[in-house]
Amino acid sequence: MPRNEENARDEHFWQAIAQRYDVAPGPVNLENGYFGRMTRTVAHDYQRTIDFINRSNSVHVRQVFDETQSIEIRNQLAELLGVEHTSIALTNCASDALQSVIRNYNGLQPGDQLLISDLEYHSVEYAMRWVAQQRGLEIIEIAHKHPATYESLVASYREAFEHYPRIKLMALTHVTHRTGLVMPVQAIAEAAKAHGVDVVLDGAHALGQIDFDLQALGVPFAGFNLHKWIGSPLTLGFMYIDPQRLADIDPDMGSKRYPEPDIRTRSPYGTANIPAWLTLPKVLQEHRELGGSKAKGDRLRYLRELWVSEARQLPGIEVLTPEDPRLNCAITSMRFTHVDDQQPMVERLLKDYNLFTVARNGSACGSCIRITVGFATTPEDIQQLVRALRELSQDSL
Ligand SMILES: Cc1ncc(COP(=O)(O)O)c(C=O)c1O
Repeated sequence: MPRNEENARDEHFWQAIAQRYDVAPGPVNLENGYFGRMTRTVAHDYQRTIDFINRSNSVHVRQVFDETQSIEIRNQLAELLGVEHTSIALTNCASDALQSVIRNYNGLQPGDQLLISDLEYHSVEYAMRWVAQQRGLEIIEIAHKHPATYESLVASYREAFEHYPRIKLMALTHVTHRTGLVMPVQAIAEAAKAHGVDVVLDGAHALGQIDFDLQALGVPFAGFNLHKWIGSPLTLGFMYIDPQRLADIDPDMGSKRYPEPDIRTRSPYGTANIPAWLTLPKVLQEHRELGGSKAKGDRLRYLRELWVSEARQLPGIEVLTPEDPRLNCAITSMRFTHVDDQQPMVERLLKDYNLFTVARNGSACGSCIRITVGFATTPEDIQQLVRALRELSQDSL
């Protein structure tokens, strides 16, 4: 198991990890931000749990899963995050968790303000706008300065709190899907608290690659998934509500499935992907074997540095994600400065270099190409990317 940051460059160790994944022939996947691969072991376990639940059906689910296994699973998630089990409810994804918290937050009066930034994920932005429209609230949207610094990010929130004293609830994305920028959550949450603003934290891209202490972050509400950086099958997510704040979130759609003081009433009603949940012990075992979020995050940042350090030297390329190690992770965005629309360059990366990436729009800093390394990414893949960036940037000169 890696014990320190030096192990991030231990190719022998990480090659053995890369071998745990089945990878289809085809383009080199540098778009590991959509969702993560399961290892072969987890995929086999998932197949086993699908067969098992298919055979045992509701007899097992009603008698065992609903009664005990789902509770054990929730306890494991609470342990992973170092929080009380009463603060966790299972959902099908991060969006379900975040949208439920946002639509059921009951501390809003007409005329109050909700704060979002240009870096929020769509499902969160839509929910905030929808709540504002339904309840006669005002949306305040800030655009972060580019290039961002730790201080500029905190300052933009402080300024917003000072200018708009009626902000009651804000969305905060720990790791933005647009550029991979990592927000200084703790400092922003402290400033929010000082102004009486509640934070709902979108942790979808943070869990499993950022080593954080949820309680120390100081946010009352959060949503996560396990299918990005933890390595679970798709369709696993959960919400966190500080138990002291449970009364501020109403049961979702009037749910009476459990008694009201049970956080599980806050998660959207519906049948879960039970076979996927049953793989969680195996998934978390592997997460720990890899060294947990710290070692995983160090490896991903090391791979990211391999290309970013080269790309920063190339005229005609702008790397949008800051160099400050507190603000970056596996996901990093760049752009070819000679074109406004980056989509044709994404297509060239694929057609001419066999590299799969994705264009992203919507952040105030403009259209970009998102490049996301993963656990099956090799230094050779990165060399191929660097060669492509060098040649394509030459093209434009
Ligand atoms: C920043 C961010 N938040 C939320 C989500 C939504 O996650 P889920 O697919 O689990 O709903 C995503 C998905 O890509 C994301 O990138």
